[in-house]
Amino acid sequence: MQQGTRIAPSILSADFARLGEEVRAVDEAGADYIHIDVMDGHFVPNLTIGPDVVKALRPHSRKTFDVHLMISPVDAFVPAFADAGADIITVHPEAGPHTHRTIQLIKSLGKKAGVSLNPATPVDVVDHLLDQLDLILVMSVNPGFGGQAFIPGALKKIEALRRKIDASGRDIDLEVDGGINFDTAPAAISAGADVLVAGTATFAGGSGNYAANIGRIRGTGG
Ligand code: DX5
Ligand code: ZN
Repeated sequence: MQQGTRIAPSILSADFARLGEEVRAVDEAGADYIHIDVMDGHFVPNLTIGPDVVKALRPHSRKTFDVHLMISPVDAFVPAFADAGADIITVHPEAGPHTHRTIQLIKSLGKKAGVSLNPATPVDVVDHLLDQLDLILVMSVNPGFGGQAFIPGALKKIEALRRKIDASGRDIDLEVDGGINFDTAPAAISAGADVLVAGTATFAGGSGNYAANIGRIRGTGG
């Protein structure tokens, strides 16, 4: 299914004291997904939010909650995020011993399943998961923090994954995460990404700018 580029603002760059309002603002500004970065201070060197926050945010938007789990071990927390209202749950293969089982668990809870590839993770890790995946997330920074610079090597990986997805014939989102801004978005789109995560670039300048920021990242003006 061919759609235009979708934008997934990462709420990591939102005002955490007003998170519900921020989610409503990016929803109204044209966000397609709400990207929620969950970090545990162990798998990545930062701590962010847990399932209770996802649950509290759920009434603020009907958009797809795209929950990116950067936690290890991950399996024990998957049901809590499913219950909290996640629509897509994405995990890193390094976050547990049996990625296939983790993906099966997410699907068994009725959620869409994603796998995320760190900058040094080879694209082949998706090969034996493709028949179950709904999303592949290419990290274009090392996970842990917003506001980092886009790693250009991600583009070749996006191209390779676009070929794998097209060959599979399945409807799998190809999402890119990290350092996406007005300058880097066009190359990610040309390489084949169809969902762009953007934290810093979406939330820059406050809520009066969100619609314009999202439009410019998408490449449709603003
Ligand atoms: C990094 C997170 C990203 C990040 C994106 O670990 O997964 O979602 O917050 O932030 P920007 O768009 O600021 O690079
Ligand atoms: Zn993320």
